[in-house]
Amino acid sequence: MSDVIIRGARIYGEGEPQDVLISGGEIRGIGAGLDAPEGAEVIEAAGQVLLPGFVDLHTHLREPGREDTETIESGSAAGALGGYTAVFAMANTSPVADSVVITDHVWRRGQEVGLVDVHPVGAVTVGLEGKQLAEMATMASGIGKVKMFSDDGHCVYDPLIMRRALEYSSALGVLIAQHAEEPRLTVGAVAHEGPTAARLGLAGWPRAAEESIVARDALLARDAGARVHICHASTAGTVELMKWARGQGISITAEVTPHHLLLDDSRLETYDAVNRVNPPLREQSDIAALRQGLADGVIDCVATDHAPHAEQDKCCEFSAARPGMLGLETALAIVAQTMVETGLLDWRGVARVMSERPAEIVGLSDQGRPIAVGEPANLTLVDPDREWTVRAPELASIAQNSPFDAMTFGARVTTTLLRGRVTVGDGQVRP
Ligand code: NCD
Ligand code: ZN
Ligand code: ZN
Ligand code: ZN
Repeated sequence: MSDVIIRGARIYGEGEPQDVLISGGEIRGIGAGLDAPEGAEVIEAAGQVLLPGFVDLHTHLREPGREDTETIESGSAAGALGGYTAVFAMANTSPVADSVVITDHVWRRGQEVGLVDVHPVGAVTVGLEGKQLAEMATMASGIGKVKMFSDDGHCVYDPLIMRRALEYSSALGVLIAQHAEEPRLTVGAVAHEGPTAARLGLAGWPRAAEESIVARDALLARDAGARVHICHASTAGTVELMKWARGQGISITAEVTPHHLLLDDSRLETYDAVNRVNPPLREQSDIAALRQGLADGVIDCVATDHAPHAEQDKCCEFSAARPGMLGLETALAIVAQTMVETGLLDWRGVARVMSERPAEIVGLSDQGRPIAVGEPANLTLVDPDREWTVRAPELASIAQNSPFDAMTFGARVTTTLLRGRVTVGDGQVRP
């Protein structure tokens, strides 16, 4: 692995441009006009912002089972192109990642590909069925060292099972991430319950389906002295509940997706199922509350919920389509548009919500680190003035279900380094 020198980037978008020297997987020097060692790769980064590599707590790679839509390899490429150096691959694969055989495979395969660290998420319950706890300790002590457990795609709806999972997780020192959806309130639901769904004749998914579980799990975490993480927060009420729970000293964290920061349910007018997602796209008032919550730290971080689906599962009647949308390659551009261009976050804040907080929440010691000498060189360069148009077929993902297709954004990731290795340079993956 050759040495790398990044020339003239603004670190966290602050102060004067600096050079950053990287060798042996670490940051070895920071300063103006550093000498490049012989044979070092020079990355010209004038005008660009240097950030810690992003960490995605919520990614669906479809391996094993649906390699026709995404593999660990294609998803890793999408992640690296999006500026990620670590992603957490959700357990709702086929077979489900409810055993150490699967979780270890996911970790090993990710390391073989070598573009991002693919951390396996273990299932909370066997088969995601919500009935019997999975062997969390065995998965946690495997090679994949599972740090996060989630039945995502399903809610751990039985309060007694959730309570036991929380107790068990706190003894193991791992994180439980909840897909907050009261299933009785969402039977048949395909769209946000509101005027748009009513007019379009789509069955509604009420905010209370999410919020009632957020409130319940906050209380369960309080009583168990455990912590809980809320996946894909989508409503203004969830932001209010998070404020309340934090005020009570409850250990609860939450993520918001780029799509819930940008898109509202008016997107459903066309009945294009690319816009079907769980939880559903909500209203402008929810978007405003989520953005403000993220700016204030009430919502801790951004997570993509990158959810590839095959054409035949998306290009069908809205109510028959699978929920989910691609997210890895477009996340930074959307965060820049919704949070930086609006003045809600500066680039230091972007580092917090896309790298530092997610790494802290899940307990990754080598990611989300300060950009400083002696630290691991997990880094992302962002060009804050690079206009680009999303072309879904050109994304690295095998599936093409991006609702952002044909949209133009103003910022783009140009370069990603994983432990000093350039995984993306000039916007191209380096396998
Ligand atoms: C996810 C998927 O496709 O796996 N779909 C989605 O709409 N978000 C599951 C999930 O995150 O709940
Ligand atoms: Zn989910
Ligand atoms: Zn998900
Ligand atoms: Zn593609």
